[in-house]
Amino acid sequence: MELIGEEEIQEVLEVLRGGYLFRYGISLGADVDPRFKGKVYEVERAVADYCGVRYAVAVNSGTSALLTALCGLGVGPGDEVIVPGYTFIASISSIIYARAIPVLAEVDRTFNLDPADVRAKITPRTRAILAVHMMGNPARLAELKAIADEHGLLLIEDAAQAFGASYKGRPVGSIGHAGAFSFNVYKTITSGDGGMVVTDDENVYRRCFAFHDQGHSPLRTGVEIGRRPFVGLDFRFTELQAAVLLPQLRKLPRILSHLRANKARFKERIAGLPGLEFRELPDPDGDLATMLTVILPTEELARRIAGELGTKVVADAGWHVYSNMEQILEQRTITPEQCPFTCSPYTGRGGQMRYWKGMLPQTDALLARSINIGIGVSDPGLGSAFGVTMRDGLEEVEERAARFREVAGRHLTGRHPAAAGRGAER
Ligand SMILES: Cc1ncc(COP(=O)(O)O)c(C=O)c1O
Repeated sequence: MELIGEEEIQEVLEVLRGGYLFRYGISLGADVDPRFKGKVYEVERAVADYCGVRYAVAVNSGTSALLTALCGLGVGPGDEVIVPGYTFIASISSIIYARAIPVLAEVDRTFNLDPADVRAKITPRTRAILAVHMMGNPARLAELKAIADEHGLLLIEDAAQAFGASYKGRPVGSIGHAGAFSFNVYKTITSGDGGMVVTDDENVYRRCFAFHDQGHSPLRTGVEIGRRPFVGLDFRFTELQAAVLLPQLRKLPRILSHLRANKARFKERIAGLPGLEFRELPDPDGDLATMLTVILPTEELARRIAGELGTKVVADAGWHVYSNMEQILEQRTITPEQCPFTCSPYTGRGGQMRYWKGMLPQTDALLARSINIGIGVSDPGLGSAFGVTMRDGLEEVEERAARFREVAGRHLTGRHPAAAGRGAER
């Protein structure tokens, strides 16, 4: 968001002057022209190429991207989808709107899905694993993919917070059967709102496209009447949004190196405090570096340090913790019947799925003693009130890191000397 500038302005003006705001090139009084390959098509191609997959469908949000991916993959009534309890609510609500049942699983010290708990939560109803790459870092994809393959499950990547991150040399989103990105205002690159589904599977692409555009074939080519595979909706992206996203995409390498330099310096400066540990990264080289997450020895210490720094522990940060999602815990669906919890063919676990505060004790304990330090993405929902932004350079990093060191050092010193320097993150 901080990097919206002249390039975006020029590209938006180009669209406005051309008069084609719709992805199919319709201009006032004209018919849909499927041959029109405007900026939405161009940004789809650019993201697919960046991810190293064949297909991308641009949609109007990350939430729509998740729902489109789930429906494109045919996840629906009677299916269970395993999803972490630490995530943005859209990972869970999209499953509910696909009329499947979210099964909440623990996160581990990666702050992403714990493969051991995923295994424990598999039932004959399980259809997919929805791996979320929280705060710019990939989940343990090798382990999760092995579990998915072993059990014949779909692996879907919620890479909404991780566009630009990679796992063992491959961009996130490209490793599962489908990946979903968000380009909302809190993300590395943005079009205000926006999202993208990526996949390497042509059939999945065709289904995703149909779902996001009233059942039509990609680019509305061919005779449609009589050939639409199912009822779709409208989650289309516009030429104006694509005009913002294209220049943003070109800025990604610059954004990445800025974030990585700032994070490396911050981390170096606060490393070695007694008892302070870092989030574990399954692939440190692929880190997007939007956030530096620290783990303190106890909840009490973490709360005191966070309070003094004017921020909160991750557990209290709000939106991203299952225990703060009352609408999920209480299954507040849009009608009193509580579909899909009661209306789908779901009969597993001896009755209706239940959620409650405290159901994921490992996740609760970890989040209660952790603090997110913002490096480039300021998202109040993630609790990153303390840290630096994209506008800041190494000078601000030095200043904020010194402050962290002073506050945390005072609280930690002498308490856990044996744990000094035991950081997990490289
Ligand atoms: C992990 C995760 N999934 C999904 C979404 C949904 O994206 P959007 O806000 O673009 O709908 C977000 C957005 O913040 C997110 O962080």
